[in-house]
Amino acid sequence: MQIPAPYPLSRPRRLRRDAFTRDLVREHRLSPADFIYPVFVLDGHQRREAVASMPGVERLSLDLLLPVAEECVALGIPYMALFPVIDPSLKTPDGAEAANPEGLIPRVVRALKQHVPGLGIMTDVALDPYTSHGQDGVLDENHYIVNDATVAILVKQALTQAGAGVDMVAPSDMMDGRIGAIRQALEAAGLVHTRIMAYSAKYASAFYGPFRDAVGSAANLGKADKKVYQMDPGNSDEALREVALDIAEGADTVMVKPGMPYLDIVRRVKDDFHMPTFVYQVSGEYAMLKAAAQNGWLDHDAVMMESLLAFKRAGADGILTYFARDAARLLRG
Ligand code: PBG
Repeated sequence: MQIPAPYPLSRPRRLRRDAFTRDLVREHRLSPADFIYPVFVLDGHQRREAVASMPGVERLSLDLLLPVAEECVALGIPYMALFPVIDPSLKTPDGAEAANPEGLIPRVVRALKQHVPGLGIMTDVALDPYTSHGQDGVLDENHYIVNDATVAILVKQALTQAGAGVDMVAPSDMMDGRIGAIRQALEAAGLVHTRIMAYSAKYASAFYGPFRDAVGSAANLGKADKKVYQMDPGNSDEALREVALDIAEGADTVMVKPGMPYLDIVRRVKDDFHMPTFVYQVSGEYAMLKAAAQNGWLDHDAVMMESLLAFKRAGADGILTYFARDAARLLRG
């Protein structure tokens, strides 16, 4: 039979005509369970500081963080990720404070696990909040970030965090071999339940700027960059090699970071490895969406949800995002 030329053979718009049909055929969706909420922790009591470059984000002392943790549970957000703001007097070239069992992070982890046991707690394994130079590792006389000596400190830091009861450690430093070293040490210490989320494909990105303000490492870092250990933004195959190494070394979950500019990497990682794959919508991504929304140039809630949904579509199983609470509230209606 001849189809009359003016009529399309197929009309994809049929499935877009009304909200209930769009709901029926939607391939990817967001849920509060997709989110990990990164927070900045201050020492002391009743302390609350706005982060100028991240509107809506605050550094909080533990007492003010506890209600936030409770709200996460109420909203169905499964994990919170802790980032410390370390007093400058405690920063040293080797970042030794990172392994102090009585340091800020171990104390906060113990309190959160005691008061809000239903919330998963993740901690960053990296030295940059603790070093006087703001790098994620120790330096040699040429200011090169030394790999193996750094890994030895990271292992102590991870053991300290795991000993405090953290549910998942997340090495974000990009030293070679650190996942294997941390996994071996955890096993040897009998800490067999501590999960590792590897920042596997972490790029040397300019989108981390506001985060470095938030933890107070920006001034220490100065004009230095992290290109001798974080990945080159021009590389894609290398991300797969990094992920393969981290899986072989004992990572439970892997991560791509930053997020929006690296959706291609998320997709390749998910397709190749079929691992629980996470993505970090980093501080600079948050800042640019917030800034445009504050100027009235973009619709805040709409771009927030669209950006988060894009991660799911790219293959991510979960998203670290400063929008976690806002988005979960919206999803809960
Ligand atoms: C520390 C760390 C960084 C981020 C997470 N962990 C900064 C960096 O590597 O310089 C960035 C997160 C963000 O920008 O939101 N190693």
